[in-house]
Amino acid sequence: MDIAFFGTKPYDKLWFEPLSKEYSCHIHFIEAKMNSDTVVLAEGSNAVCIFVNDYVTAEVAQRLSSMGIKLILLRCAGFNNVDLSATKELGITVLRVPSYSPAAVAEFSMAAILAVNRQLHRAYNRTRDFNMSINGLMGRDMNCKTAGVIGTGKIGQCMIDIFNGFHMKVLAYDVYPNENLDAVYVPLDELFEKSDFISLHCPLTKDTYHIINGNSIARMRPGVIISNTSRGSLIDSNALLDGLKEGKIGGVALDVYEEEEGIFYEDVSGKIIQDDVLSRLSTFPNVLITSHMGFFTREAMQAIAIETLENAFAYENGMKLINIVQ
Ligand code: NAI
Repeated sequence: MDIAFFGTKPYDKLWFEPLSKEYSCHIHFIEAKMNSDTVVLAEGSNAVCIFVNDYVTAEVAQRLSSMGIKLILLRCAGFNNVDLSATKELGITVLRVPSYSPAAVAEFSMAAILAVNRQLHRAYNRTRDFNMSINGLMGRDMNCKTAGVIGTGKIGQCMIDIFNGFHMKVLAYDVYPNENLDAVYVPLDELFEKSDFISLHCPLTKDTYHIINGNSIARMRPGVIISNTSRGSLIDSNALLDGLKEGKIGGVALDVYEEEEGIFYEDVSGKIIQDDVLSRLSTFPNVLITSHMGFFTREAMQAIAIETLENAFAYENGMKLINIVQ
């Protein structure tokens, strides 16, 4: 199988290239992200492999189909970047990697919450400059506080375990509650009202779009710390800005951002950032922005590479497709 691998970064090549021989496939590594201008680079391949910020719109799907490409390999769990009604209509199979290391993302969310709460990012910068003052760096104990987990799938469950390890009271919300978890399911509004720390672990759907908005922020506890490692559009960024400016929100860890495409994963340090909301967010001392890297551990990268190529192998050999999105 010839795979056109869009949005290649050096770390992708590191994990995928050695495995490609094992799976008898040829991977054509392309740095450009997938979009209507770059899709032409897939010509001659049997499949495309894409990541979170590669977009398969209806137009891109049509172009893939006209090249005879009937397989999209997502090297990620989320699939909100693919127009599934278009791919379905065109008979394009979409396979994903539903689980590679839920612990990696949950551990990252906790690391970010801890950093924001205890202001480690500021402390690091101060001591590098031998400013050893701790004024303004006071945090809060997490022990005995209340944590809210929205979305209790694979990552949410790891998050619940981690919060419990910190001896916190854990509230949870999911459209499909799992009564075996060590958390108390409550209605979403109650979770907003009672949580000191909120971690988002649901997918982006039309129901979860802006699940954190002006109304939900108004219900939250003053000083609440929010972590989003799921998808940027779960949070209404303008409402978040207002909540931060008012001092209602105590801190935010954003590993994802609703307009991250074209900025995240790129070095744009020499450019003028045109996104005023992102620019303003980055000025707050209590906002920690990272570039969609919750998944980024050795274990997760290896699992992603293996599962993606297993998906390709299964498709090519007419085997059961366990990771099919449609
Ligand atoms: P999962 O599919 O195991 O769990 C998602 C949970 O969300 C399910 O229990 C589902 O019932 C629940 N859910 C669906 N709609 C909901 C709604 N309207 N309200 C509340 N809950 C709802 O997915 P997993 O593996 O736990 O991943 C969660 C999300 O994390 C992914 O969708 C993806 O967006 C994000 N992610 C981010 C990564 C990063 O590097 N920052 C890496 C991997 C995933």
